[in-house]
Amino acid sequence: MTQLERIGVSLEKRLLTKFDKLIAKKGYQNRSEAIRDLIRQQLSQERLSDPKTETVAAIFMVYDHHATRLAEKLIGIQHSHILHAISSLHVHLNEHDCLEIVVLRGRAGEIIRVGENILSMKGVKFGRINIATAE
Ligand code: NI
Repeated sequence: MTQLERIGVSLEKRLLTKFDKLIAKKGYQNRSEAIRDLIRQQLSQERLSDPKTETVAAIFMVYDHHATRLAEKLIGIQHSHILHAISSLHVHLNEHDCLEIVVLRGRAGEIIRVGENILSMKGVKFGRINIATAE
């Protein structure tokens, strides 16, 4: 079982009040859980700044499937050797637009490069990369 250690933190009253409001809004039951999540986020962000860190990412995009060869290019990227596409989800939104979520595994640097490449393609109307450390 994981060993827990107690720590004391001194904060200005105003800062603590703001923090309590924020975490209540987010639905945290207590400060400890909120602080643990903040620490995990910071540690994860730090690891993501290293391009070699192993990550999993979801690339979320809305695109016009009529755009020249876009769908074909997107499939090509998913089959490429650089990245490991774990899964993808495709939803036909309307006559023109498709929503696609591609889940990838790979090094942070490559994922971000390929993700930005995809999102800048002609025909992609909206996109976002969500990336997390794989460990
Ligand atoms: Ni579609």
